Amino acid sequence: MRLIIDTDPGIDDALALLYALASPEARIEAITTVAGNVNAVKTTRNAQHVLRHAGVANPPPVIRGCGEPLRRQPVYAEHVHGEDGLAGQWDGGEHAYGEGAVDEILRLARAYPGEITLLALGPLTNVACALAADAAAFALLREVVVMGGVLQPPGNITPVAEFNFHADPHAARDVLRSPVPLTIVPLDLTRQALLSREMLDAWLEGCAAPRARFVAALCHQYFRFYASMHGREFCYLHDPLATAIALEPALAVTGTLRLEIETEGEMAAGMVVRDLRPGRQTGREVRVVRECRMAEFFERFRARVLNGPGSGREE
Ligand code: RIB
Ligand code: CA
Repeated sequence: MRLIIDTDPGIDDALALLYALASPEARIEAITTVAGNVNAVKTTRNAQHVLRHAGVANPPPVIRGCGEPLRRQPVYAEHVHGEDGLAGQWDGGEHAYGEGAVDEILRLARAYPGEITLLALGPLTNVACALAADAAAFALLREVVVMGGVLQPPGNITPVAEFNFHADPHAARDVLRSPVPLTIVPLDLTRQALLSREMLDAWLEGCAAPRARFVAALCHQYFRFYASMHGREFCYLHDPLATAIALEPALAVTGTLRLEIETEGEMAAGMVVRDLRPGRQTGREVRVVRECRMAEFFERFRARVLNGPGSGREE
């Protein structure tokens, strides 16, 4: 599967990148970065840092994208992911990256018509800008898979909105209104991908490989955030789950829903709205992932993120 990963690393994005880079199904054509969990300078250097840890022979290019949402002021999540967006793991290294994520998305869509899956793990600013710049080229994408939205509140950034859709609600609305095949992996499902401290400790027992230490440092920061909220150490693997489903749709059960996005309001911006009034079907039908075989997901996560190529623990 030819893949573009649009991402805002971010701890779970970093884990998702490691997952994708170790996945035999994936041919990653580009990693495009966007402002989200932290600003676009940090998300870009974090993507490069993850590539250095991934230990892959021919890493895909990292190309920086939009630094601002379409209209709203940026909303960051440094309180979750750390000031550097990578649990303090960014090593200060800066490496060459491209500019112009939007142009690259469209170039690849034209180069491989009908073959590219665009996996969006952050706010949809780059995706919406590509759609606005050249809808005909955008329509050549095979599919857009999005981690975002929440159908049944609570949200995670406001009582009713999920972070990626809240951070750029106008982009989310534009993408949901586009005709391209769209699959949403909502917070409702990703909250079931719960990694506990106990699970990770058991997986990592006695392992001192650099990859294991990197993953442990990322997860421990994530655990600290959730422990501050809920009193116990766990985290949700939002972006790795969306990545696993994009690469292997057979892991999931998907339905279709007509959805709209609210774009206004400090609380409501990014809220997913379904009109359940009889005969009042607003919004475009999109695929929404309802279930996933979680045991198989966790098996793959462990095998690829902790034991995959470059981990120093290849089986
Ligand atoms: O709401 C979870 C999503 O927002 C994840 O993609 C996380 O990385 C943040 O971007
Ligand atoms: Ca993300």
